Amino acid sequence: MSEHVLALDQGTTSTRAIVFDADGGIVSVAQREHKQIFPRAGWVEHDPIEIWTNTQWVIAAALDDAGLGPRDFAGMGITNQRETAIVWDRRTGRPVANALVWQDTRTQPLIDRLAADGGADRFATTTGLPLATYFSASKIAWILENVPGARADAEAGHLLFGTPETWVIWNLTGDTRSGIHVTDVTNASRTLLMDLSTLEWSDELLAVFGIPRSMMPEIVSSSGVVGEVREPPAARGIPIAGILGDQQAATFGQAAFDPGQSKNTYGTGNFLLVNTGKEIVRSQHGLVTTVAYRCGDEPASYALEGSIAVTGSLVQWLRDNLGIISSASEVERLASSVEDSGGAYFVPAFSGLFAPYWRPDARGALVGLTRYVNKAHIARAAIEAAAFQSRDVIDAIVADTGLELTELRVDGGGSRDDVMMQFQSDILGIPVVRPAIIETTALGAAYAAGLATGVWPDRESLRGHWREGRRWEPAMPTEEADRRVRLWRKAVTKSLDWVDEDVTALS
Ligand SMILES: Nc1ncnc2c1ncn2[C@@H]1O[C@H](COP(=O)(O)OP(=O)(O)OP(=O)(O)O)[C@@H](O)[C@H]1O
Ligand SMILES: [Mg+2]
Repeated sequence: MSEHVLALDQGTTSTRAIVFDADGGIVSVAQREHKQIFPRAGWVEHDPIEIWTNTQWVIAAALDDAGLGPRDFAGMGITNQRETAIVWDRRTGRPVANALVWQDTRTQPLIDRLAADGGADRFATTTGLPLATYFSASKIAWILENVPGARADAEAGHLLFGTPETWVIWNLTGDTRSGIHVTDVTNASRTLLMDLSTLEWSDELLAVFGIPRSMMPEIVSSSGVVGEVREPPAARGIPIAGILGDQQAATFGQAAFDPGQSKNTYGTGNFLLVNTGKEIVRSQHGLVTTVAYRCGDEPASYALEGSIAVTGSLVQWLRDNLGIISSASEVERLASSVEDSGGAYFVPAFSGLFAPYWRPDARGALVGLTRYVNKAHIARAAIEAAAFQSRDVIDAIVADTGLELTELRVDGGGSRDDVMMQFQSDILGIPVVRPAIIETTALGAAYAAGLATGVWPDRESLRGHWREGRRWEPAMPTEEADRRVRLWRKAVTKSLDWVDEDVTALS
């Protein structure tokens, strides 16, 4: 019976394939990490071939583990790390360079030049986004400028651009023979190249960044059949029926379909989205406006988003660069061995600060240190940083929308951390609620595919799948929470104005 749905989650640190049954339950999971490549300070790359190899492997492994074949699947949904730019040659299928990852800041000089002429918000009306290295456009421009021969090949129509879902779908559907070149509205809304109201590529913006239109994928809905899998053979014939950027997928997977509903995902970074329905709401407080989803021919739904670059990756940094923990989950044990951070505050502005500050000149700062502070306090300061940054974003959402959040729905790998979730509730003064399934990113992609292929009749029917897993209530007096938020914001000021002529964005 074709009642299962396959989800592929091509994330920043790993690629996962998850098989879901018709109740939205997990049948099997396969996952592989890929290399994080740091050629210089500020540069972050992935190998697109490694991502494609891992994709084939996890799909085959998940199907094998579930004991299912292609005919058992109604469809497949794909979700992905957003903004990361891949450019490849349609004649050979070879990438012309490594993927430039969303965290990569090498294009700051181009962003500065563009911002000098009209300000950082000059394209905000069209795109909903500030000018920042974070989004894809400047990364594509960098590849065309710096890879020998790329500009000429692009102008001759030989090169294709895509964020990771586009690259993966082109390969899944038969690459140079029959590869389909598509992206969905949610991913397209993160490029700085799409007009939010027409949902089409903007010729003006393509011209500003010097990107030939022939490189750009077709923009499709988030839920709808676009083609069939050809590779890997284990999945041959499964319809590709859902595409969502990872944060929009998590929002969809939390069943936050209606205006006012929100979620906060604790992954490599943190991303808080609040659905604003059919209305395009413009932020006055440092949030970005993005497409939440579009199902079939319906009008698109939009969201306000607070994007935080570094939360879980700070925990990885404690593990990989400092070696004070040996696994990410160990941070919780170390942090809970102390009552508080001992006065230490950690502002992880490793690639500048994203929402709500948008300060590329910021760099990481660990402040408030005394002889008293030990590694447990630093571990605690690291997980508290995710909670403080989320508080900053929620304050911006309240200021922009007038909505008072009554609870916060959370998900992602970091939401397993009970210490961090309790502190999050303390610092917000509202309950924090984690669903039974925290793989909401993959679940959202599965929902989009299952809606398009008749596994589920409508979004309403999906709401019934949502189950509460655990809930934390605020336990800290408000005055104490407010005092710590003031100290956090003082710490943020210490991280600003670091990058100047002595410390360029590249060193
Ligand atoms: N106990 C914990 N406390 C805090 N953070 C944790 C804990 N366990 C895992 N993490 C962090 O969670 C992140 C992994 O979560 P998840 O798998 O959701 O990430 P992700 O962002 O989806 O990955 P990707 O970026 O590849 O999509 C890692 O950055 C890790 O450091
Ligand atoms: Mg993820």
